[in-house]
Amino acid sequence: MRVLVVGSGGREHALAWACARHESRPEVICAPGNGGTAQLGTNVAVSVTDAPAVARLAREREVDLIVVGPDAALAAGVSDTCREAGLTVFGPSAAAAKIEWSKTHAKQVMDQAGVPTARWRSGTRESRSDLFDFVLELDGHCVVKADGLAAGKGVAVCDTREDAFAALAACLDERRFGDAGSVVVVEERLRGTEVSVFAICDGRRYQLLAPARDYKRAHDSDHGPNTGGMGAYAPATDGCPPLGEVAVQVIEPTLAALREAGTPFVGCLYVGLMVSPDGFRVLEFNARFGDPETQVVVPLAGPGFLDLLLAAARGELAGPAPAPVAGAAVVVVAAAQGYPAAPRTDDPITGLGDLDGDALCFHAGTARDQRGRLVTTGGRVLGIVGQGGDVATARRLAYENLERVHFAGMWSRSDIATLPAGVRR
Ligand code: AMP
Ligand code: GLY
Repeated sequence: MRVLVVGSGGREHALAWACARHESRPEVICAPGNGGTAQLGTNVAVSVTDAPAVARLAREREVDLIVVGPDAALAAGVSDTCREAGLTVFGPSAAAAKIEWSKTHAKQVMDQAGVPTARWRSGTRESRSDLFDFVLELDGHCVVKADGLAAGKGVAVCDTREDAFAALAACLDERRFGDAGSVVVVEERLRGTEVSVFAICDGRRYQLLAPARDYKRAHDSDHGPNTGGMGAYAPATDGCPPLGEVAVQVIEPTLAALREAGTPFVGCLYVGLMVSPDGFRVLEFNARFGDPETQVVVPLAGPGFLDLLLAAARGELAGPAPAPVAGAAVVVVAAAQGYPAAPRTDDPITGLGDLDGDALCFHAGTARDQRGRLVTTGGRVLGIVGQGGDVATARRLAYENLERVHFAGMWSRSDIATLPAGVRR
């Protein structure tokens, strides 16, 4: 068995690790991969958005399964091109992934499918007066979102009309997010606790993984700028609605709506929820695994995870029973100095040989330099994962192991998995 994982982050290292631990001991190729995936298998320097090159690589190496990680690869049609080449792919078509790369489209699908979500309007520079009216109707308590992919930066959570008008101007006049912000969604601001639910889907059937919670802000107590994610834990059972309700109210109608539209969803449907005492509503869909949530969800899914991905890619998932969850996992991200604005790079990393046997280290921004040393190459350098019987134990182990790792300028949050992240009152 040979698996190709597309991407180069911590998520892809975790996916590659999860595939490699299968009892059949598959060979894993990563495109382009990172310093961590190079230890598990082979890295091949291919751009994640170069769909023909990915398909060519998969054909040449005769891979049995392609697992597509990043949203940019999905939006670029990597899954489509590979399927057209007769390959087996875990990852939605660009049309099905539109549920992530257009927020207007996601809202339309949700409304059509009857999925609970915040009230919304969508518009452009030409129809801006509608958007301004809606901001006034919500008295400024709204969220302004660039419609397209904006590297997680296109969302402004507002509490005043002035903030909302400024966020609209940033998208429509200043074009801060380029074409991604030429269409804007304004929605009602929700309060509550956020949790993410992941469904492995074969177009029709699905299986749920452990719910997870990530920490997007740079600093403790959810202060500082937004990042790609500074840590996560699973299972996030506290404050998570019963998974059966999420399945019936969100996943089943969404899969049905996408199937009816001729764009069946094969891949990981990531459901971001806001949970409040009066129920839950969907904040966003992603068409892929979360990063860094994958680093905690995948270890809990057990050594048969690859079977699940293969079954979904082949349209042969067994059924809707939630996957069993044993224990808990916590990931803490070790970030480079200057992240997220301007991370420094090229610092040697030490201490990885000193980790406990059952601690995991997923690389995100690492590579081997010319002298063979492992060095930093990006903002989120490593994710150290502790595993235990409960979240508190997993958390303690994650931090104990993190202390053994060093590179110049390394920093992390100290409160991952203590307070619920993203509690919005
Ligand atoms: P999104 O990319 O749509 O998930 O938004 C990014 C983040 O913005 C979410 O994780 C939430 O923290 C916040 N957010 C998005 N939509 C809302 C909303 N309607 N109310 C409150 N916060 C929101
Ligand atoms: N951790 C959030 C995401 O992957 O979108």
